[in-house]
Amino acid sequence: MTKLDQIRAAESRLLLSTYERNPILFVGGEGVHIIDENGERYLDLLSGIGVNALGYGHPAIEATIARQSRALIHTSNLFYHEGQAELALRLTEHMGLDRVFFANTGTEAWEGALKLARAHAGLLRSEGKTIGTKFLALEQSFHGRTFGSVSTTYKARYREPFGPVVPGVEFVRFNDIADLRAKFSNEVCAILVEAIQGEGGVRPLTQEFFAEARALASSTGALLIVDEIQAGLGRTGKWCAYQHYGIQPDVTTLAKPLAGGIPMGALLCTEEVARAIHAGMHGTTFGGGPLACAVANTVIDTIEKDNLLANATEVGDYFQAKLRDLAKRHEAIIDVRGKGLMIAAELDSAELAKLTVEEMLKRHILINCTSDTVLRFLPPYILKREHVDTAVTALDEIFTAHASHAAAQPAGGHNRG
Ligand SMILES: Cc1ncc(COP(=O)(O)O)c(C=O)c1O
Repeated sequence: MTKLDQIRAAESRLLLSTYERNPILFVGGEGVHIIDENGERYLDLLSGIGVNALGYGHPAIEATIARQSRALIHTSNLFYHEGQAELALRLTEHMGLDRVFFANTGTEAWEGALKLARAHAGLLRSEGKTIGTKFLALEQSFHGRTFGSVSTTYKARYREPFGPVVPGVEFVRFNDIADLRAKFSNEVCAILVEAIQGEGGVRPLTQEFFAEARALASSTGALLIVDEIQAGLGRTGKWCAYQHYGIQPDVTTLAKPLAGGIPMGALLCTEEVARAIHAGMHGTTFGGGPLACAVANTVIDTIEKDNLLANATEVGDYFQAKLRDLAKRHEAIIDVRGKGLMIAAELDSAELAKLTVEEMLKRHILINCTSDTVLRFLPPYILKREHVDTAVTALDEIFTAHASHAAAQPAGGHNRG
């Protein structure tokens, strides 16, 4: 029995069966490559689902973890340490918001945002305003797996087994302004959006829809809350995807790339919204610990110092252009979209999308498929053009082989005789 077989057997006995893992045992990484137990290198265009923004084994991250782990790993939020205020300053400046709450994961940051919206509406009511407690979320949204988050997540199979979920959530058709207007009223305390939906298939909001959501929320004092957990912190070539639209939210959430792989989430809000929170109303044992804050400060410094926003834009544009060229030769690719290094190639069949991910893996390239038919690329921000060329050549081979295989099959897909 190999080591991997032993681990698989033990996990299948001991873990909740929440994941369908690929049978690979990763033990290390370097730059944009992750390395398995046999020393085989894989080009990682998924970066741990959008987390490893600086790739693997980044010297600045290693140095910060070593230094901070020697100094202080945890304090609790009953005391001060050096990292939080410094990180909050960087984040508020980059996101154009005033205050921060640090959490540990994306879903926990989102829970905080939902609670903040309810508390803010309560504050407005106490000041004599008419505003309710309802949330408007979008179809195809994904905000996480804890109760509040899953209640605002569209996919029924994520919500229904755990029902009843948190009440008071209504879903609006994606980018449908008429539906948004019809469902909005002063019963609504917040409109919840991802500027570019991630799990929903790398789908950007239209400028018009986003602007309408902003205007409607402002008209009653409801909040516009933008989930930037996947798109935020530089992935799209700006600190936040909403900055491509010139629209400011009242609240935003960050997580995945924030602390270079150390779990960390954050919610940011305006001074107006922050009035709703007083000591003791919300909190966390681990959130904003010294280790996570130190690493997050290093991640942000490195993004700035190495011009990684510009790199995400430049290499991302190149990647999309290459995929568009590919789409001209392979009609199976029906759309290419995204911003910076958050990119999708939508295929005409779920079967082909699944096969493509498997074939890429055989060629030691990691991507994934979301929304059944969408190939998703969330590579590290340090990606270079040569890595894009490797990936696009592999895709070309896979689609060519698939097309010639399909052409060899008579209609109906069965061999004669
Ligand atoms: C947009 C968005 N929100 C929230 C989450 C949940 O984050 P986490 O898995 O860290 O709880 C995710 C995770 O994929 C996400 O993409």
